[in-house]
Amino acid sequence: MHRHLLVSDADHFRVADEINPWMDRTDQPDPAGARAEHDALVAAHRDAGRTVERVASAPDCPDMVFTANAALVRGERAVLGRPPAARAGEIAHHRAWLEGRGFTVDDPPAAFSGQGDALPVLGDVLLAGHGQRTDPAVHPVLAERLDYEVVPLRTSSALFYDLDLAVGVVDPDRLLAWCPEALDGPSRRRVRALRGRGLELVEVAPHEAQRFALNLVGDGTTVTLTRGCPRLAGALRARGLVVHELVTTELAKSGGGVRCTALTLDAPAPVPGEAAA
Ligand code: ARG
Repeated sequence: MHRHLLVSDADHFRVADEINPWMDRTDQPDPAGARAEHDALVAAHRDAGRTVERVASAPDCPDMVFTANAALVRGERAVLGRPPAARAGEIAHHRAWLEGRGFTVDDPPAAFSGQGDALPVLGDVLLAGHGQRTDPAVHPVLAERLDYEVVPLRTSSALFYDLDLAVGVVDPDRLLAWCPEALDGPSRRRVRALRGRGLELVEVAPHEAQRFALNLVGDGTTVTLTRGCPRLAGALRARGLVVHELVTTELAKSGGGVRCTALTLDAPAPVPGEAAA
């Protein structure tokens, strides 16, 4: 999993509406720098043996580079995101792309940040964010349409407006990195309980989480990570993983990092007869 990814491009990337606390209209990304960062991310995915597909960004969609928010995809099904109004225009493009590829596409019943707030682990378990960009009313719909057992996790502050800034899936079957301070108390307990189901947990300090350390792409072999988070990079190397660190300073001006720019297309469909409860 995480070896077949949908990316867009940074051709129309800019900070328009300030929809998260990291965005500041007076600090615009350098266009050439942003394109170079995005190109380097795509090259890193390909170097890691991942397949990358593209949906072109639209001129009126300044945040479309962040394809993770487009949907959550499992098997041949997708539940589309429902982002803040400033990003609503992206969804028609993603719907068209997914339907064109033969996915069965559903709309969510309420606000949903797509994969930004939905991280599959252990096959049938979905770590599902809420409290910022996702209405918990969406969780039962994800459970039903995509056959996931939902573990709800609430982030503690708008700095972690999406769960993929607070929890990083390094290896969906074995290893999670996370920042406990980024989650509320009950959610911390739910993450710790995952150890009993076979997931190892690596803790990341708030200062690295706030540099988007956890916004990583991990396929169990290679971890693609933003540069500037040496403690997490070292902890992952110590576990035998190949760690590829990339500069994401221009993407960060919109509050995004590595994970945000790639929608996973290869989450395996549930095995018939073994769907999650
Ligand atoms: N500026 C974008 C927004 O606020 C960044 C989205 C990053 N995506 C993510 N999955 N964390 O929507």
